[in-house]
Order: sequence, then C-alpha cells, then structure tokens
Amino acid sequence: MTVDAPVTNDATSGTDHLLVVDDVRTHFRTSRGLVRAVDGVSFTLDGGRTLGIVGESGSGKTVLSRSIMGLLPKRHTETPTGQVLFKGNDLRAAPRKELQRIWGCDVAVVFQDPMTSLNPVMKIGKQMTESMRHHLHISQSEANVRAVELLRSVDINEPDRRLEQYPHQLSGGMRQRVTIAMALGCSPELLIADEPTTALDVTVQAQILDLLQAQQRQRNMAMIIVTHDLGVVAGRTDEIMVMYAGQVVEKAPTRELFTRVRMPYTEALLQSIPRIEDNVDTRLKVIPGRPPDLTSPPKGCRFAPRCSYTQTKCLEEPPPLVSEGDHQYRCWFPIGTSLEVDPPTRRDGALAPGVVATAGTVTTGGAD
Ligand SMILES: Nc1ncnc2c1ncn2[C@@H]1O[C@H](COP(=O)(O)OP(=O)(O)OP(=O)(O)O)[C@@H](O)[C@H]1O
Ligand code: SF4
Ligand SMILES: [Mg+2]
Repeated sequence: MTVDAPVTNDATSGTDHLLVVDDVRTHFRTSRGLVRAVDGVSFTLDGGRTLGIVGESGSGKTVLSRSIMGLLPKRHTETPTGQVLFKGNDLRAAPRKELQRIWGCDVAVVFQDPMTSLNPVMKIGKQMTESMRHHLHISQSEANVRAVELLRSVDINEPDRRLEQYPHQLSGGMRQRVTIAMALGCSPELLIADEPTTALDVTVQAQILDLLQAQQRQRNMAMIIVTHDLGVVAGRTDEIMVMYAGQVVEKAPTRELFTRVRMPYTEALLQSIPRIEDNVDTRLKVIPGRPPDLTSPPKGCRFAPRCSYTQTKCLEEPPPLVSEGDHQYRCWFPIGTSLEVDPPTRRDGALAPGVVATAGTVTTGGAD
C-alpha cells in the first residue's frame, strides 16, 4: 500500500472537468458561534458521471449542494475560501443574471420534498412550461408538447390530463416524477438530487432512483445524488464521497469503496445497511454517539469520539486527506493497510477514557 502525500488542490486542477469544487468552505454566523457546515471540500465531476455524496444528518451535504448552486442566503453566511467552476466559469463570482440562466437550465436540482419545487396553487402544465419558455425561448404550444413528452419519459400516465392538475391531486411519487421532469426540461448537463427519495415509501423510492439513473444514462448528464444511505448509491454511482462534520472523509470509485473501505466512519455506515441474508430479528449496527457540534469540532480527528479504533494520536492531530491512487481518505490508521490498528486494541463502542492505545502499537510510516 502506498499512501501518497496529502491531497492538495492539484486534485481539482485541469480545465476539462464539467464541475470543479475547490476548497469550498461555508460557515454560518450564529448566536452559538461560527458553524463550520462545509469545511474545505474539493472534488471534480466529469460529464456523464455520477457522484454519490453520503453522510449522516448534519454532515453538510445540503449546505455543500447549495454552496455549489450559490443558493445560500448571503446574510449570516461566510465563504472564506473556495471556488466552484462549472464549465470553467466561476459560479461564486458570476453575476446574478448569469446564475439564473445556469440554474434550472445547465444545472438542475431535485429536492427531497417535491412540494419545495412545486407551487401548490399552480397547475402542473403552467409550472412546467413557464420555465421552458423562459429558458428555451419557445412558444406555449411547443412548450406544451415538450411537457407532455417529459411527463411520458418519467412514466407518468395520461400526461395531457396531468398538465391540467394541481400538485395536491397527485401522489407523492408522481409529484417527485413531475419535479424530475421539470428539472430535465432544459436538458441540464448536471443534475443535483438532494435526498430525492427520502420522503417516499420504499417501493416508490426504488422506482424513482431507477428513473433518475435511466435519465442520467439516456441524456449522458452528470449527476450528484445526495443521501444519508450508502445503500441508495451502491449500484447507481461511479464514485462515492463520504462526508463527516463538514469534511470529506473518504472518496473512491464505488466498487473500490465497497471492497476496500479505509475510513472507520465509512465502515460504520456500511455496517448499518441491512443485508438480504440478515435474519428478520438481526439488529442493525448503529454508530454510537452523535456528530460533533460544528461550532467547536474536536481538535484531532472529528470522528474520534465515536470511532472504534481511536488512538491517542487521533485525539491530538487532525488527519489529512491522503490519496492512494484514486482513493482518498482521512484517517491515521486506515483499515486494510499496514497502519491499521491491531485487532486486539480495537474497541467496540464509543470512546471510553483510558482504553486508547498509542500510535506506537501500529505499524507506522506513510500517512503521517
Ligand atoms: N442557515 C444555517 N444557519 C446555521 N447553521 C446551519 C444553517 N444551515 C445549515 N446549518 C447547519 O449546518 C450543518 C450541515 O447541515 P446540512 O443541512 O448540510 O446537513 P445534511 O448533511 O444535509 O443533513 P440532512 O441529512 O439532515 O439533510 C448542520 O449542523 C446544520 O445545523
Ligand atoms: S483517525 Fe483515528 S479516530 Fe479518526 S477515523 Fe481514523 S482511527 Fe478513527
Ligand atoms: Mg440535507
């Protein structure tokens, strides 16, 4: 195993990427102090590729997505560093008019709750055609034809009739199909789906995810799927980026992540996914404790208070993001490497004072 030098911004260099997110930080000023919701995230995404962003509630997934889109309220928000390049254009520096053209046209978003995107007092047809007419400069009748085609492409039956209906007349799954159809209206090059199925029941969830995947392939769009559930992105993404407490803690091609997990947090997420071979009475593993307060994250590894492998070094020094080929992770003692903590020193459960081993108990060399 080779652990390279810490990843630098070079990881995001190059002009060919569709999207470059470079050292993005988004902090909120609150009465409790500065909430470091996104704290130095970098990644790139190429056309036609799919990235899954995974992490527990509060890890910064939505703030990151909104930071990419420039959809954060300016008041109380600080962006001390960072660049978001879409086709080489810096979205953070783009004028409002340019951003409005990009939103909903080149880059589209599907949110968790379809009612966030749909106007409850406007007919589906009007909502779908308004945006297309505005962005594509087409006539009402052309927009109507396109709306019917789009509804059909997302498997909505009787599309002509649906155009005359209001959102409350559709089921939750149908509403989400409509928001996906709307998002696809201007043939975006990038679709960001933030927990697109969390509000839906399990059978509809799978249908919507299949639909997104089929549309992504047909249109050769780039797609970011944001979810708290690693199972959702397992067979549907090229790459997975795991976030914890505002930072990237592991990122790898999907198969690599599932076969050679390095970061204990990712391992814990994997262990919390139900498996088909589990008995009905099998209890899922939960990650002990809670994510840290982002106004004062732990000084060392942010996952240390909950990690089963914590060593003294983890409590004292923040691990850098290191790379092993196209696999990146943030851990002093990565699983499956020569640095891994010896099994007898592993602990099961949250950090208990006095039971941590020292870094001297592991084979050293490389990451630090
Ligand atoms: N406007 C805001 N002001 C202050 N703190 C905020 C604001 N928006 C988000 N946060 C905080 O930023 C952190 C990241 O929030 P975010 O919504 O990105 O989490 P998430 O990973 O999307 O979680 P979930 O899975 O629940 O959607 C949280 O601690 C949240 O409380
Ligand atoms: S650095 Fe230490 S505490 Fe953090 S994930 Fe790795 S082993 Fe666990
Ligand atoms: Mg969220």
